[in-house]
Amino acid sequence: MKILVTGGTGYIGSHTTLALLEAGYEVVVLDNLCNSSEAALHAVEAICAKSALLIRGDVCDRALLDRIFQEHAIDAVLHFAGLKAVGESVRKPLEYYQANVCGSITLCQAMAAAGVFRLVFSSSATVYGAPEHMPIREDFPTGTPTNPYGQSKLIIENVLHDLCAAQPRWSVALLRYFNPVGAHASGLMGEDPRGIPNNLVPYISQVAVGSLNELSIFGDDYPTVDGTGVRDYIHVVDLADGHLKALQTISGGSGINVWNLGTGDGYSVRQVVHAFEQASGRPVPYRVEPRRAGDIAECWADPSKAEQELGWTATRNLQEMMADTWRWQSSHPKGYLE
Ligand code: NAD
Ligand code: UFG
Repeated sequence: MKILVTGGTGYIGSHTTLALLEAGYEVVVLDNLCNSSEAALHAVEAICAKSALLIRGDVCDRALLDRIFQEHAIDAVLHFAGLKAVGESVRKPLEYYQANVCGSITLCQAMAAAGVFRLVFSSSATVYGAPEHMPIREDFPTGTPTNPYGQSKLIIENVLHDLCAAQPRWSVALLRYFNPVGAHASGLMGEDPRGIPNNLVPYISQVAVGSLNELSIFGDDYPTVDGTGVRDYIHVVDLADGHLKALQTISGGSGINVWNLGTGDGYSVRQVVHAFEQASGRPVPYRVEPRRAGDIAECWADPSKAEQELGWTATRNLQEMMADTWRWQSSHPKGYLE
């Protein structure tokens, strides 16, 4: 089977491309490299001795998409391409709606024209807003995202719901990720954010490696185990495996399916810092700062629907997530440039 992976040189897309190649799929990657490097695919090749075909281009480019579907017998699409920085989305809403919403609609139009109706979409736990209860199940109502990034994910989910209701030939998976972290165990692939990281684990690892001075902990007065925010961190290799299971599951069916991809365990910022210090043997100095606007106190998944329907569970614990992050970061202090 041949799979089109949009955003396949990015953090999650590259790990999933590796998993697809290892499982025997052929992979065509479409990526405009706006937040990633071709080097991610060189690492994939070094690990599995197979390669994906990289096509540089924009997911909003309909003519290019039509050409890709004409030239390759694509069976299904895994759609990772998009912009993901929450703060930047507030400053640049049009760019976010263009890349995320228009990109997804253009992709679906090109897929329909080519007779390809299987799609796995990268959604996010952000669509739940601030639920009253934990753990979060897929049947919880979606919330009101407080930023254009979150809005764009919810809009695309709604578009895909409407599409599947109107045209039963479609078979779509909405995968709501919790907090992806970690790196491939080889140390050859990992997260390579441009500029100063927005997310906790890449920030911590850059402090540990000496690129940044200290971590700011955004608030220690939440009603949580130690006052700091609690999240469901999931290893990116487990996440990649979840995509393969979702792809296999939707291949035999039709309609829309929503699955949480998380571990079901929540850890506080302080617990993550501690686990990272243990894994790296390096201190992570931090200072407590005020809460970050838009953050919720806690967020973790009920992953039982994915377990029952996909036969998937996350198997890697927090220690492995931190150890693998450190192996990647310490051997590539400047990411793929090094
Ligand atoms: P990433 O930035 O590493 O990967 C996204 C890739 O898409 C990049 O390689 C980028 O160059 C490419 N891209 C962006 N706009 C494009 C366009 N218009 N045309 C073609 N390529 C384009 O991000 P990631 O962490 O791997 O995230 C992948 C997907 O998962 C995204 O849709 C993101 O919103 C979603 N997601 C990520 C997280 C997270 O915490 N990392 C959480 C929930 C959901
Ligand atoms: N945090 C800090 N200091 C930092 C960065 C983060 O204390 O420098 C804290 C946050 O306040 C939060 C926790 O660490 O309590 C996790 O924050 P992240 O920024 O790593 O992740 P978020 O939970 O805010 O958001 C992530 C992705 C979103 C996605 C969401 C749910 O960035 O895109 O998970 O999937 F929508």
